[in-house]
Amino acid sequence: MMRKRSFAHVSEIETIKNRKKDGIAIPLKRGAQAKTSSTYLEYVRFVHNALPELDYSEVDSSSFFMNRTFSAPLIIDSMTGGTSEARKINQRLGKLAQDHNIPMGLGSQRAGLKSEELAATYSIARKNAPDAFLIANIGGAQLSKGLTTGEVKKIIEMIQADAIVIHLNPLQELIQPEGEPKYTGVLAKIVELVTEIDLPVMVKEVGAGISPEVAIRLETAGVSAINVAGSGGTSWAGVEKIRAVAAKNKIKIHLGELFWDWGIPTAISLIQVKRAVKKTPIIASGGLRNGLEVAKCIALGADMCAMAYPFLKAAAQSTDSLFRYMNLILAELKGTMFLLGSRNIEMLRGSKYKITGALADEVNEE
Ligand SMILES: Cc1cc2nc3c(=O)[nH]c(=O)nc-3n(C[C@H](O)[C@H](O)[C@H](O)COP(=O)(O)O)c2cc1C
Repeated sequence: MMRKRSFAHVSEIETIKNRKKDGIAIPLKRGAQAKTSSTYLEYVRFVHNALPELDYSEVDSSSFFMNRTFSAPLIIDSMTGGTSEARKINQRLGKLAQDHNIPMGLGSQRAGLKSEELAATYSIARKNAPDAFLIANIGGAQLSKGLTTGEVKKIIEMIQADAIVIHLNPLQELIQPEGEPKYTGVLAKIVELVTEIDLPVMVKEVGAGISPEVAIRLETAGVSAINVAGSGGTSWAGVEKIRAVAAKNKIKIHLGELFWDWGIPTAISLIQVKRAVKKTPIIASGGLRNGLEVAKCIALGADMCAMAYPFLKAAAQSTDSLFRYMNLILAELKGTMFLLGSRNIEMLRGSKYKITGALADEVNEE
């Protein structure tokens, strides 16, 4: 039984629901993508192979990650929960994860601890994806504010998760009108969770990237994977700036505009993190918008790739749109593999590419 609700508790739930509503509606309807920066993946150019010596039908995109084989090196990145619209989206994304055998991340689940009604907006994914690899989600800021290991275990149970990811979002907390930019002690809490949780504990950014120095600290903490979530795609400074306009918070509006494109572009973050870590698997994400870009990230050293906004956009339309979109991504990925003569993902990892322009300036070593 949930405890009897006080007025304060009810209003806290309403506040959470409204924030979650904005978190979907703003990216979808107002546009919160990078404005002046990019992923830098446009500076990666594959070398065309005019003699691929294989048939398209032989191309196999299956990928091994976390001791499981998936149909493609692609994860539905952590997004949502907490509202009726989010429930519908999680239901559709769950179906996709199940049918296509790809992993799926849920949105930050702290809201789900507040009531059974809210928890159901997350667990709907598991109902529709009994066999899929589902990833629970919680914020680093929540850990720093005292979320207990017991609560984290409840979050895992909520969706019978196969792994948990901790998201690092200092930029979003800074701009969010009601944000609490408190990040003291987060790494120590990550270490604690790695020790106490019996599942893979991964870490991700939300669109500002992971530097090589942070990646080394995370590897030393023992995390199971690092999702770089670089800049060039969805901007959470952008989302929160639009929310700050509605809240008439002038300082946050100013900061949101100033830091809209803040962060490490995805390609730079991926290349540098790959060089920095010894063994931690890397997930590339942040602004990936097609299968060609997924292929580029795999060639650059990512173990898996992830996309958020494109899946949200398709899922918000219909289940059919979502499945059509997935088929398109697979056609783009497999098409790229065919043109490179890569029969499988292992061969794609060894494919030839050139790094040009501004990306070369950033990552080419002397
Ligand atoms: C609508 C929406 C909600 C999101 N909510 C979360 C979240 O709750 N937890 C999280 O770790 N990341 C969240 N993200 C961030 C994504 O997982 C991803 O890191 C980021 O959007 C960059 O990827 P993209 O450019 O493909 O959207 C969200 C993204 C979107 C678009």
